[in-house]
Amino acid sequence: MSLTLRESLVTSALPRLEAQLLWQRVLGVPRAWLIAHDTDPLDPAQVAAYRALEARRLAGEPIAYILGYREFFGRNFQVTPAVLIPRPDTELLVECGLRAIRDVRAPRVLDLGTGSGIVAVTLALERPDAQVRATDCSAQALDVARKNAGALGAKLWFSHGNWYDTDLGSGQFDLIVSNPPYIDARDGHLGRGDLRFEPLGALTDGADGLRDLRAIVRGAPDHLAPGGILCVEHGWDQAESVRSLLLDRRFDAVSSERDLSGIERVTQGRAPA
Ligand SMILES: C[S@@+](CC[C@H](N)C(=O)[O-])C[C@H]1O[C@@H](n2cnc3c(N)ncnc32)[C@H](O)[C@@H]1O
Repeated sequence: MSLTLRESLVTSALPRLEAQLLWQRVLGVPRAWLIAHDTDPLDPAQVAAYRALEARRLAGEPIAYILGYREFFGRNFQVTPAVLIPRPDTELLVECGLRAIRDVRAPRVLDLGTGSGIVAVTLALERPDAQVRATDCSAQALDVARKNAGALGAKLWFSHGNWYDTDLGSGQFDLIVSNPPYIDARDGHLGRGDLRFEPLGALTDGADGLRDLRAIVRGAPDHLAPGGILCVEHGWDQAESVRSLLLDRRFDAVSSERDLSGIERVTQGRAPA
């Protein structure tokens, strides 16, 4: 006798929501379809396809890599194991960036370490008059970001290289945003959970977690227009250190913003005139 969707969901070792997402992927249908058809008999080939995805999830692979996408700022972005899985916290970085350029016409924006392109693409779509350049040291990540920009209709410029050491076009930027690797290389979390599957170079700077943030802050004044803003995402315990880095480089209006968990997650400052 054939298995039904309802029986499969009840017997799955996965949480129901994850099992439903995997079934949506296998059948190529929206969630409402699953609910309306939950007593339909399943084809054995579909059951086998589901079981293969379920086994990957049970082995710990992040659901975003299995599905191949993750939602960010209301849009679906393609993700592969070459890029960090977008985090909801990073929406705060986008919000701070958008606020920083609210009164600037045709702003020039630089996203350092773009990964899947979530920040650069979102800024470009939310501010269609902006000229947004996205960089990364990973050519594979840039391929994913290019695909996301194309699929979502964002016009971006891309550069491959080490932070500012790449083609940044001509002129200076009104806004530099970055969510760099900021986990301390000795942090035990790197060997646990979803992080085991994400690119190490997207998670840690291989040092104390502040090495890349230092490089980004140090170089920013040379690439920001007078009054331009630098916004960086950082770890839960790094806000004070990042504020000090910005103050040491003579940034004005240095402040940190809290994420939905109340953690200081993004720090920003205005470039010295
Ligand atoms: C934490 S991920 C952020 C990705 C994306 N912006 C996001 O918020 O999901 C950091 C990104 O910085 C890139 N990266 C790491 N070191 C870099 C460097 N020295 N120069 C440029 N990009 C770098 C990584 O490849 C990775 O894509």
